[in-house]
Amino acid sequence: MNVNILGAATTKFGELWHLSPRDLVRTAVSEVLSSSGLKAADLEAVFVGNMLSSSLGGQDHLGALFAEELGIKGAAMKVEGACASGGLAIHAGVLAILGGLYETVLVVGVEKMTDHKPEEVAKMLMGAGSDPEREAGATFPGLYALIARAHMEKYGTSEEQMAYVAVKNHFHASLNSHAQFTCPVTLEKVVKSPVVASPLKLLDCSPITDGAAAVILSAKGKGGKKVSIVASAVATDTLGLAERKDLTTLKATVAAAKKAYEMADVTPGDIDVAEVHDCFTIAEIIAMEDLGFFEKGKAAQAIWEGKTRLGSGHPVVNTSGGLKASGHPVGATGVKQIVEIYNQLKGTAGKKQVEGAKIGLAHNVGGSGATAVVHILK
Ligand code: COA
Repeated sequence: MNVNILGAATTKFGELWHLSPRDLVRTAVSEVLSSSGLKAADLEAVFVGNMLSSSLGGQDHLGALFAEELGIKGAAMKVEGACASGGLAIHAGVLAILGGLYETVLVVGVEKMTDHKPEEVAKMLMGAGSDPEREAGATFPGLYALIARAHMEKYGTSEEQMAYVAVKNHFHASLNSHAQFTCPVTLEKVVKSPVVASPLKLLDCSPITDGAAAVILSAKGKGGKKVSIVASAVATDTLGLAERKDLTTLKATVAAAKKAYEMADVTPGDIDVAEVHDCFTIAEIIAMEDLGFFEKGKAAQAIWEGKTRLGSGHPVVNTSGGLKASGHPVGATGVKQIVEIYNQLKGTAGKKQVEGAKIGLAHNVGGSGATAVVHILK
């Protein structure tokens, strides 16, 4: 398969109280149109990745809303899959083009979270969990804390090793002017930050974020260096953790990655740069193992040794700063990951450029692993 990317852009991520979802989408789409030299009239369909517009924003008609806002007359629809909504919207755009119905489509991911109280956001995010988890009052930090405990027990992963994921990703984010947090953090600061759900602390968690990202996909190519999506794979698992035999792996990630590597005809060793779903630091460690970059139980030490850090790693992981430090506006995250990999492969990633990057991977997860989306770009 081969679907070309004609342009990619994100807004600044952060607490953007002065910007509405319309403003965020307009900003990201204006930038992607001007960088691709296209007009709104060239876009035949719009796929919107979003999770919380219904529950937090009271808005249930995002496709038509943004089509009107952007002056696009074609098909428009929202795609939801919790924190994987953005990756799934990209998958829907790829399907639309490969199906032959549309030649050029817009995928936009957006989330507006910071206008609401954190406890309200935490409750709405649990819409991605299972009924028993919700009824028991679980939150995502709590569920990932259980996953972290299981990994610590089985593989001896330490709180310091998890904390180092945050140190690395905050360092990468310090090179990304669009990131929510642009200040580096020390290991001591992460380890001593307030406990959210033991063993996870404030600085082990991704934050609550506003932001939007946009990508134009097309069957047509464009002059200059071409970047294409060469694999788009989705897999699912149980919504709840209680139904899983092993909490130290996300089966959906393993399955989606296997399909994606086959589609792209590459191996994990061929990937130069990856954006992976580090909603909590333990999630990046498990993703590294499930995506086949390191053996089970070995990723925490490899990350600690700098094997995924800009300047020393292969693959270099989460050059944007990841969800941890670039921010996690949930419906926008999967689209932003594609924007980052696109920029890396174009050679336009600025100070965070991975020299000579040719093949990139994006990994987006919904809930605590019920949905996983893997894209490979060349
Ligand atoms: N990383 C780094 N700094 C963070 C942060 C994070 N994740 N979250 C908040 N901060 C900073 C804030 O900027 C603020 O700094 P300041 O005092 O200098 O302004 C300070 O920490 C306190 O922020 P506050 O907004 O009061 O935090 P909070 O206690 O309301 O929320 C969390 C912190 C971790 C509970 C919240 O970000 C959260 O729920 N994260 C997880 C989101 C989630 O579950 N997403 C889905 C994943 S599957």
